Amino acid sequence: MLDGEILLIILTAVQASEQTLYVYQTPKVSATECSSVTLFCNFTSNGTIPGFYKWYRHSVWGPEVTNTSGELRGRVSIVRPAEFFFHKSANIHLHHLNFSDTGLYICVVTLLANSEETAHGNGTFLEVKRLVADGWKSQLAITIGCSTIAVITVLILVAVGGFLGYHNKCE
Ligand SMILES: *[C@@H]1O[C@H](CO)[C@@H](O)[C@H](O)[C@H]1NC(C)=O
Ligand SMILES: *[C@@H]1O[C@H](CO)[C@@H](O)[C@H](O)[C@H]1NC(C)=O
Ligand SMILES: *[C@@H]1O[C@H](CO)[C@@H](O)[C@H](O)[C@H]1NC(C)=O
Ligand SMILES: *[C@@H]1O[C@H](CO)[C@@H](O)[C@H](O)[C@H]1NC(C)=O
Ligand SMILES: *[C@@H]1O[C@H](CO)[C@@H](O)[C@H](O)[C@H]1NC(C)=O
Repeated sequence: MLDGEILLIILTAVQASEQTLYVYQTPKVSATECSSVTLFCNFTSNGTIPGFYKWYRHSVWGPEVTNTSGELRGRVSIVRPAEFFFHKSANIHLHHLNFSDTGLYICVVTLLANSEETAHGNGTFLEVKRLVADGWKSQLAITIGCSTIAVITVLILVAVGGFLGYHNKCE
């Protein structure tokens, strides 16, 4: 009984010292609505070990980022398996970005060596900038520095544009 316990402790200690999986992510990325973005994630491990990776939103086991369900459905693509195995890349690409995609994305890598090993990165904060509204605001700010007539002109243009030109969908 005692021998069994000692063996267990030794095995645990050996496993801990062999922990070689580290996951790296870019801390922050900015992109504009409707464009695509790559969220970078790579990992270090000894040798080429089979495994897989997943991404989660908000927190480590938060909503999973997948192409088949959730808010990002149809807008996610992942790297080819060869990229994962040989280049240790666990990147994802997000397409047709929406302002509401802003937030934290966490990369989790699992390797299936003798025993399963999982590690996660510290997360990438994705900031998606609005397309139209920001343009107007900065144009207005620049113009206010010029003249009253220009301000009135821009206000009229913004009002007309608000009815005719503003669209909140891609394309
Ligand atoms: C992985 O490599 C590190 C240093 O490169 C070494 O200390 C460790 O023992 C290796 N682990 C395994 C499981 O081979
Ligand atoms: C993640 O954050 C921890 C704590 O702030 C830090 O010690 C560690 O180096 C970070 N890891 C990476 C890969 O940046
Ligand atoms: C992993 O990503 C970091 C930046 O996130 C980069 O500096 C590093 O070179 C990458 N490592 C590999 C092996 O691609
Ligand atoms: C993601 O879903 C969209 C829409 O269903 C599809 O057109 C696209 O091919 C899918 N992409 C991948 C990488 O599976
Ligand atoms: C962003 O998502 C909202 C809610 O689903 C939608 O109404 C809006 O059209 C989207 N914006 C773009 C630029 O696709």
